[in-house]
Amino acid sequence: MVKLGVNIDHIATLRQARQEHEPDPVAAARTCLKAGADSIVAHLREDRRHIQDQDIVLLRKAVRTRFNLEMSLALSILDFACAVKPDQATLVPERRQEITTEGGLDAAGHLFKVKKGCQRLMDRGIVVSMFIDPHQKQIEAVAAIGAPMVEFHTGAYARAFAAGRAKHHLVQLRSACAYARQLGLIVNAGHGLNYDNVCPVAAIAGMEELNIGYSIVSRAVFTGLEQAVKDMAALIKR
Ligand code: PXP
Repeated sequence: MVKLGVNIDHIATLRQARQEHEPDPVAAARTCLKAGADSIVAHLREDRRHIQDQDIVLLRKAVRTRFNLEMSLALSILDFACAVKPDQATLVPERRQEITTEGGLDAAGHLFKVKKGCQRLMDRGIVVSMFIDPHQKQIEAVAAIGAPMVEFHTGAYARAFAAGRAKHHLVQLRSACAYARQLGLIVNAGHGLNYDNVCPVAAIAGMEELNIGYSIVSRAVFTGLEQAVKDMAALIKR
């Protein structure tokens, strides 16, 4: 059955809008796990626009199932991750002005740098995943680096789905998943997935986990977080 990782960044976005103490990301993580999430995901951005360092420290303590820290390869972030020791680290590209992570990590183009960062994390016993576009050369780069896991960026699929043109992207995700599995990699996916577009991605053979944040937190405004997570879990575990 496909697993659900819930990204709680936007709980912190709401808190940071007032620089207050609520809503609390740790309380949100507990609610998500109670509702059926298999892991909790949080992105410590270099600009600290939502999740803060202290959130990561507290989440590390509170999440006993699996805590997945999304992070760039900036040295200060690497140092912090090695100290906090999440169960999993997902390496993502980061640009200051972007609204959200816009594309996958160019593991193929920065093989040496990515391998060095990846090795530091793996030496600390952290499982490393790489957020990449579903392209053959990026998959091969991850396998060459020696990371055990990839997460395919589904942003292009999600945008195409909204325009009624997702078929090509779905075919691409399917064959990328099959190829990555062939190379021995665990395959996850995420970004832009919502209650309308998630099912075809969840149905891809070999898919391990979907990481979803924005659509769940948005629905939670109306239904409450527990129900929003239950609704998503029911869709992807069907
Ligand atoms: N996976 C990764 C690597 C991400 O960067 C994000 C966005 O922070 C997500 C999943 C979740 O994307 P969304 O918030 O669009 O569901």
